[in-house]
Amino acid sequence: MIRPMIWEGDHLLMLDQRVLPAKEDWLKLETYQDVVDAIKTMAVRGAPAIGVAAAYGMALAALKGVDRSQAAEELAASRPTAVNLFWAIDRICGMHEWTFDAVLAEAQAIESEDLEMNRSIGRNGAKLIGEGWNILTVCNTGSLATAGHGTALGVIRTAHTDGKGIHVFSCETRPRQQGLRLTAYELMKEQIPFHSIADGAAASLMRAGEIDCVIAGADRIAANGDTANKIGTYALAVQAKHHGIPFYIAAPSSTFDPSLEHGDLIPIEERTGTELTHADGIEVAPAGTPVFNPAFDVTPGELITAIITEAGVFTPPYRF
Ligand code: MRU
Repeated sequence: MIRPMIWEGDHLLMLDQRVLPAKEDWLKLETYQDVVDAIKTMAVRGAPAIGVAAAYGMALAALKGVDRSQAAEELAASRPTAVNLFWAIDRICGMHEWTFDAVLAEAQAIESEDLEMNRSIGRNGAKLIGEGWNILTVCNTGSLATAGHGTALGVIRTAHTDGKGIHVFSCETRPRQQGLRLTAYELMKEQIPFHSIADGAAASLMRAGEIDCVIAGADRIAANGDTANKIGTYALAVQAKHHGIPFYIAAPSSTFDPSLEHGDLIPIEERTGTELTHADGIEVAPAGTPVFNPAFDVTPGELITAIITEAGVFTPPYRF
């Protein structure tokens, strides 16, 4: 199984997702600031994976005798949208002990619980998938984005191993191409039949009757089911509604934020414009092009056919 990070004695090894699939480079992270940088620069990404990384960042802080709240504050400032990050940091800040052994054990528990939750999500979600279905997905929600197995891609993985004979359409996911680079990498490794598509191809595939359902992950789910996920997810939900196609969200309980009444309250990260204007370091837009680059959007709960969690499958009206 692909793993985005491995704890080794006194440091964290992290698979650098910025250079996949061209290179499988492992970064050696020795301080909590190394983890902050890895999250900010997206060497690690995906809501559950950044939660696990932050937990190991706290373990590195405890190992080096760093003040707990200082490490927590800096790790929490690394990315704003995925609530798993704050969930993991809060869980460690809520511990009575601030010893390396205790924090490391908690980080390892967070990691193994995430893997177990994903396996349950996979089992719960696979029941919704019919024989021979074509499934559309977006971004990367697989082993790389979690402690392993994945959320939306975990459902796909389980349906595939159950012998459902599925085929995946994987959206490229502009501008960072997590779908084209990372989901394709995972699907190829597992030999799950798929085609990568440009994001703009989704609607016409739906219209042509080529899509049986859409499954996406989540970065934060508000009390009413409104769901923040990778930019472009909302567009897919609208298109799925128009074409009468089920639209599913798959996420563990660590992605729920019942403290927020609705999705407009979810902080949406804006990233640098160079993610759009540059391709592989080469400027492809006219110099000085003004850019608006939100990394996430919010899909209203009413567009979501069901939310698949480790605890079961929820349908509207949502109240978490
Ligand atoms: O910006 P990213 O790559 O961290 O965004 C990731 C997503 O939007 C995923 O869909 C989400 O985190 C769920 S991952 C299981």
